[in-house]
Amino acid sequence: MSEERITTAVLVPEEDDLDASLRPRRLEDFVGQARVKEQLAIALEAAKGRGEALDHVLLVGPPGLGKTSLAYIIREELGVGIRTVAGPALDRKGDLAAILTSLEDRDVLFVDEIHRLSRAVEEILYPALEDFRLDIVVGQGPAARTLTLDLSPFTLVGATTRTGLLTTPLRDRFGMTYRLEYYGVDDLTSIVGRSARILGVEIEAGAASEIARRARGTPRVANRILRRVRDVAEVRHDGAVTLPVAQEALALLEVDETGLERIDRELLSAILFKFGGGPVGLSTLAVSLGEEADTIEDVYEPYLLQLGLIQRTPRGRIVTELGRERAGAAVSDDASLF
Ligand SMILES: Nc1ncnc2c1ncn2[C@@H]1O[C@H](COP(=O)(O)OP(=O)(O)OP(=O)(O)O)[C@@H](O)[C@H]1O
Ligand SMILES: [Mg+2]
Repeated sequence: MSEERITTAVLVPEEDDLDASLRPRRLEDFVGQARVKEQLAIALEAAKGRGEALDHVLLVGPPGLGKTSLAYIIREELGVGIRTVAGPALDRKGDLAAILTSLEDRDVLFVDEIHRLSRAVEEILYPALEDFRLDIVVGQGPAARTLTLDLSPFTLVGATTRTGLLTTPLRDRFGMTYRLEYYGVDDLTSIVGRSARILGVEIEAGAASEIARRARGTPRVANRILRRVRDVAEVRHDGAVTLPVAQEALALLEVDETGLERIDRELLSAILFKFGGGPVGLSTLAVSLGEEADTIEDVYEPYLLQLGLIQRTPRGRIVTELGRERAGAAVSDDASLF
């Protein structure tokens, strides 16, 4: 499976991110999300049994919950090749055509941020998904003809943060949609334990669950905190992660008891104090925080919504009663922020 044969620059090289070493490889290593795993295991086994390509899979969920990991697990479990592209980078029809024709029988095509595909590229994808067929228009005007190419059966794995962002025709072409939920503390504790083993970090059970509790339901955050806690353990202590060491590091990182970070507290206080508790529009809020609207919507808001600290209304974001209380508590903890 040589990447060089394709001359497009849009392919994401396999495993080029920091998370790679901690990524679960097999379905059995993937912690939590029991229902998703069960359904996926059945679909994988059935497809393998029939010797067919797995139906197209849509993975939905906030950042860091395991969408990319699952895409690679699917290919690993199927024992096939994978090509990865980022939706926004795939803006030329020719690039998609080149990638599609390079796929081998039952390969996985992983399209991250699939909601950001251009309309033109999406339209190429429809017949490819449905009939493994590529329609190419050659020539122009009255001389234009459509050439049809047969493709190898393949599996599209799409990842997106919200299904609402997908067009209906695209959404309808997925045979399976799996929604990833925020992880509970027990699952996150297992993930921290697993990562510590891989990183060779000695960690107390109490420290692992403390990190888990403050990881905002997100494995990537748990792993990130673990790395920073390890730094503190190595630099200021003897390297072992005990509960006091974890607490010291979390205080240094400004992660509070419920996992809120400085930016979350700033967001709450901006709505409360700059905009009278809301409603305030996303773009106004983004400007006032100096953040991208997309980042606020995809990264920070889902957890604040999940905790019930803010609400989305048609007229904008508001801070809930609970959010007011939390912000009030934070005022006494950290008056400088408010
Ligand atoms: N269920 C899990 N079990 C163990 N580790 C996990 C699990 N889910 C995620 N992780 C860890 O969290 C990291 C981030 O996960 P991943 O990159 O798959 O998230 P994502 O949903 O693709 O995020 P994004 O939307 O930002 O692309 C992985 O590298 C892995 O270490
Ligand atoms: Mg990802």
